[in-house]
Amino acid sequence: MTAKISIIGAGMTGATTAHWLSEREIADLVLVDVVEGMPQGKGLDMLEAMPIIGSDSHVLGTNDYADTAGSDIIIVTAGLARKPGMSRDDLLKVNAEIVGKAVTETLKYSPNAIYIILTNPLDTMAYLAMKVGNLPRERVIGQAGILDSARMRAFVAMETGVSVENIDCYVLGGHGDEMVPLTRHSNIAGVPLREYLPADRLAAIVERTRKGGGEIVNLLKTGSAYYAPAAACAQMAEAILKDKRLIVPCAAYMQGEYGLNDMFFGVPVMLGRNGLEKIIEYSLDGEEKAAFDKSAAAVRETHEALKAIVSL
Ligand code: APR
Repeated sequence: MTAKISIIGAGMTGATTAHWLSEREIADLVLVDVVEGMPQGKGLDMLEAMPIIGSDSHVLGTNDYADTAGSDIIIVTAGLARKPGMSRDDLLKVNAEIVGKAVTETLKYSPNAIYIILTNPLDTMAYLAMKVGNLPRERVIGQAGILDSARMRAFVAMETGVSVENIDCYVLGGHGDEMVPLTRHSNIAGVPLREYLPADRLAAIVERTRKGGGEIVNLLKTGSAYYAPAAACAQMAEAILKDKRLIVPCAAYMQGEYGLNDMFFGVPVMLGRNGLEKIIEYSLDGEEKAAFDKSAAAVRETHEALKAIVSL
């Protein structure tokens, strides 16, 4: 393949992202992890699957950042999950170190790479990646909106029995409890969701979407969601490599859009070969604007917590 994507963190989400991408046959893939043997094992296992699925993507697992050299895209999934007794700030500090190192190490070998950040808290980890790497905002995009919107689309499909392909939902804002599912902009084959579904059913779907991550955590008992987050990363990487100019919700660095500055926030963006091609500004009514402001305040709080720990 002429294109190369490196995935930092070969855990559940990283390896599953490689899996989705290998089937798309759009790039050679490198999986990097600190655990010795694990990325090598997963990479080789995946490589051995390629003859069966008919893909010539090369997959390599490694502990050595030098193997990422010349990557077009770096996807950062490395990080720790919060453990009992660990405060949010403790987690922030640990993941900031991991993500910071992933960015500085990969930049040495791929100075022009575009970064997709998945490690949580992802809005703040994307902010850190941009600052640590001294990168232009076009080259750092956080995953979250595609996932949150996909959850809502899946719930609407379950409720209505309509194909997921006919369902467009837009969940914006920070990737947390204050995320903003925009029901006014969401539709089924062009028919506004608000006309299609009774208000109480729509409210239930919005609530389930907001708690979608927690629902999976509660079911899995150990770990968090990875199939859908990984599918979202794969879609972003494909849109960038193919210069699709795909409009999807992602976390982007705000420079005045939606009245926000110097922070990452989930908004509709256009993804193309330059990474973030454009931020699309929807017109928001009063209620939506209030929800945006509330979500932005929550994200800003985590950004401030990061700045108190790490000098950026
Ligand atoms: N460099 C490379 N990999 C690392 C490092 C590091 N410094 N530190 C930890 N890792 C690896 C771990 O060894 C592990 O394999 O990151 C991987 C994380 O994988 P999982 O624990 O399986 O977590 P996962 O479910 O993939 O989630 C990763 O994505 O959705 C977010 O909240 C989630 O922040 C978390 C991240």
